[in-house]
Amino acid sequence: MTLDASPDLLPLPRERRSTRSFDDTHVLVDDELRAMLEAARWAPSAGNSQPWAFLVARRGDAAHQRLVPLLSRGNQSWAPRASALVFTLHQVASGPEEDALTYSDYAAYDLGQAVAQLSVQALALGLVVHQFAGFDHEGLAAQAGVPRHWQVTTGVALGRELAADDAGDAAARERDRRPRTRKPLAELAFGATFGEPLDLG
Ligand SMILES: Cc1cc2nc3c(=O)[nH]c(=O)nc-3n(C[C@H](O)[C@H](O)[C@H](O)COP(=O)(O)O)c2cc1C
Repeated sequence: MTLDASPDLLPLPRERRSTRSFDDTHVLVDDELRAMLEAARWAPSAGNSQPWAFLVARRGDAAHQRLVPLLSRGNQSWAPRASALVFTLHQVASGPEEDALTYSDYAAYDLGQAVAQLSVQALALGLVVHQFAGFDHEGLAAQAGVPRHWQVTTGVALGRELAADDAGDAAARERDRRPRTRKPLAELAFGATFGEPLDLG
């Protein structure tokens, strides 16, 4: 099913997409980066456990140079052009501290929601977001000194989309022009019985 079937959607879910055509001249200013991380920080979480953390690499800085080689080959073809790569982590056990929060079974869920809020903030700033899992998670944990009770989870490429009249990378442009598709609602929204489509009139 394509978006044509969902005319009432807000512009944001309607127009966002995981673009591969980043403008590699765009520089993310501190205020924009801070606003996106603040949006993640203010996400709800189970028992207010806030089981998320972020590693930030800006294009051209030392972290970027260290972390880009850990991307999968496919992601190397587009992600380094983004203005920043934010790697996300969630807590998978209680920390060693005396007053450590009890680990929550909902940590991965909470991180996902924090990234969703970061994405909403990014789109409101006129930026685009492309999440990715294709990178060497263990290599990144080792490079960044991640404690054992944290799990490196995803990467988030942030930046400005290349102008429409800029040819950019042909393969990336071609992928970005493909229609976005989703399963129909009847396959995921049920009434009281799993598998029985919700009656939406
Ligand atoms: C957890 C996660 C992992 C993903 N991994 C990759 C990836 O490694 N490379 C990539 O190009 N896109 C990746 N994506 C993007 C998805 O392919 C994309 O969200 C999906 O195809 C739907 O397209 P849309 O976001 O444009 O609507 C990932 C998305 C998520 C949420």
